[in-house]
Amino acid sequence: MSRTTLAAYLDANATADLTAVVTRIADCCAAIQEQLRLGDLAGVLGSAGADNVQGETQKKLDVIANDMLKDALQACPQVRGIASEEEDSVVAANTAGHFLVTYDPLDGSSNIDINSMVGTIFSILPAQSDGELSEAEFLQPGRKQSAAGYVLYGPSVMLVLTTGKGVSMFTFEPGSRQFLQTVSNVSIDRDTREFAVNMSNQRFWASPMQEYVRDLLSGSDGPRGKNFNMRWVAAMVAEVHRIINRGGIFMYPYDNRDPSKPGKLRLMYEGNPMSMLIEQAGGKASTAYAPIMEVTPTDIHQRVSVVMGSADEVDTAMAYHKK
Ligand code: AHG
Ligand code: MN
Ligand code: MN
Repeated sequence: MSRTTLAAYLDANATADLTAVVTRIADCCAAIQEQLRLGDLAGVLGSAGADNVQGETQKKLDVIANDMLKDALQACPQVRGIASEEEDSVVAANTAGHFLVTYDPLDGSSNIDINSMVGTIFSILPAQSDGELSEAEFLQPGRKQSAAGYVLYGPSVMLVLTTGKGVSMFTFEPGSRQFLQTVSNVSIDRDTREFAVNMSNQRFWASPMQEYVRDLLSGSDGPRGKNFNMRWVAAMVAEVHRIINRGGIFMYPYDNRDPSKPGKLRLMYEGNPMSMLIEQAGGKASTAYAPIMEVTPTDIHQRVSVVMGSADEVDTAMAYHKK
């Protein structure tokens, strides 16, 4: 069976400029997966011995993947600037480029040393000027995204992409080094019986979230009248991939461990791109109070609380917060 290549898909679903950017990212992720696959043989596991700007310990592969993407995107004429979870500030690329790219080079990096799932998440925004690059230019709500996606480095390597015309999935074919379309028009079930949240943080959540999860846990004996299953891969990219494939709700809610951080996940590298994918597949993505993609960022590294997945379940979670 002949499958649609990523190039053919982009030809039909993106401008030439946007195609160039997505193609660079996909090619770079194909190179990143080779490093991941070699693991200890390439000496790439373990800590890099430094912290990122957000005070998190960087893994060697966080740094390697970040540098690979930075180099690839700086060499792409259509890219004006980049912002990365692993960079302190925005990085200029080509002044006349029409796009800004923000990314999480390696999501779920605590999974690297246990040979478990990780991924790369990216968001593509329109450039705002052709003068000197500034951080202010990046501070656009997620609704403005031109495209978003992730590459999941799992048993197979998959690209999940939206250019605003639905969501498609591509599987990396190592022989041809191509991403081939394996699923089109992804649609997330409205209802679910599966949730994902780090329960160890329960005591730090706000009371509406505590109440909502308590009712999930009480199953068929509680007000929800049905039993729920739970999963936690500790990599948002893998949780979202599961939800895209079989529904579910993923939450990293606000907690009061550090009042300066409204949640753990980052709006511009994780929240917005995943929200665009989820919404394009018919799901919902909320802060628990409002759509994530309506938040106007004030800082490239800002955090956001996340409740996303099957539409009816996200509505239910939001209803607890409106009481
Ligand atoms: P990153 O590896 O890019 O820092 O992101 C990890 C994030 C997210 O992917 C995951 O859902 C969450 O952190 C896991 O958090 P816990 O450590 O609370 O499990
Ligand atoms: Mn991440
Ligand atoms: Mn990361």
